[in-house]
Amino acid sequence: MSQHDQYNLEDSEESVIHHSIRNMPSRRKTLDRKTIPKTRRSTGSQAGASLQSDRRENFSFTYQASRHEAEWIENSLVGFYDEHWLDDVLRLIQGGKEAHVYQCLANPSVPGLANPYLAAKVYRPRKFRSLKNDAVYRQGREYIDADGRIIREVGMLHSIAYKTAWGMELMHTSWIEHEVKAMRVLHAAGADVPLCLASGNNAVLMSYIGDKTTPAPMLNSLELESKEARSLFQRVVHNIEILLSKGYVHGDLSAYNILYWQGEITLIDFPQFIEPRKNQEALPIFVRDVTRICEYFSRQGVPSNPIKLAHSLWAAGGYHVTAEVHPSFLNPDDRQDRQYWKKTNRNG
Ligand SMILES: Nc1ncnc2c1ncn2[C@@H]1O[C@H](COP(=O)(O)OP(=O)(O)O)[C@@H](O)[C@H]1O
Ligand SMILES: [Mg+2]
Repeated sequence: MSQHDQYNLEDSEESVIHHSIRNMPSRRKTLDRKTIPKTRRSTGSQAGASLQSDRRENFSFTYQASRHEAEWIENSLVGFYDEHWLDDVLRLIQGGKEAHVYQCLANPSVPGLANPYLAAKVYRPRKFRSLKNDAVYRQGREYIDADGRIIREVGMLHSIAYKTAWGMELMHTSWIEHEVKAMRVLHAAGADVPLCLASGNNAVLMSYIGDKTTPAPMLNSLELESKEARSLFQRVVHNIEILLSKGYVHGDLSAYNILYWQGEITLIDFPQFIEPRKNQEALPIFVRDVTRICEYFSRQGVPSNPIKLAHSLWAAGGYHVTAEVHPSFLNPDDRQDRQYWKKTNRNG
């Protein structure tokens, strides 16, 4: 069975997510392409409709996909094409149950790229429903809309709580926008993460790591020389420090989510990150992240003590080993919660 055939989109899945690209950067053609404004998006279907153009109608691509997949690509990426981010979809880099990542040819006007390509990550509608223990990852996390704004509207929050079709769609968008936001913050802070250029309803466009014919391999697939292993281990730890300093724990960090290219690493796959200041489960998840990294590097001849390292990074990042409880998790009618509140807020 070819990779194309594996992509068998069920009709029921299709109905969950509307395919319109709605938080697309708008008027891309007229913008100064040297800068990447934080939000260059049109909102809602109205704006989507106004984006209809001749270019949009001519969207075709080199990559030979099955009919289902081609439709899925078209629906997810046509907005990027229309807005002159990409000119072609060249190949599937990796397709799995959760997301498909495609190598695309960037429009020559896209700024800040090290090569002529882009990576487009297109999410499966079920991706975030299949996330194990997703409540753990959602703890303390706001829902954000397609424009990156916190959702406060009661109707929307109700739909999310009752998991209506619209609520599921809002949640899906929120996961994606959280990934976009995290990548932007971390890139700006100097972390080794792809440059995130634009997001759509169901896809994220970022810098591509690799060259024309070969996408960067996952670190996990490589055996390293011990000298390089030592320096890359330090580099990963440095990145973990940057994440912590910006208030993030990756949440699924391992050598599978680190790409290696020409001696450098790139951390990817951020939607499930955790914010240690808001989430009580952050420390064990952080320890798990660090442990997975240490395990890989110990196989490459760099031994370490993961628990000790995790705790020292945690403390150096200014976090307490006993996680502070966010006030929203405390119940004022509960005696233990009131005592905890008094103990931790002596000045309050
Ligand atoms: N920016 C990128 N450049 C090149 N390849 C990428 C890029 N982002 C992702 N990939 C490829 O796609 C795969 C899946 O991406 P990832 O973000 O980890 O999604 P998933 O949720 O499916 O694990 C990666 O393992 C890598 O091979
Ligand atoms: Mg991954």
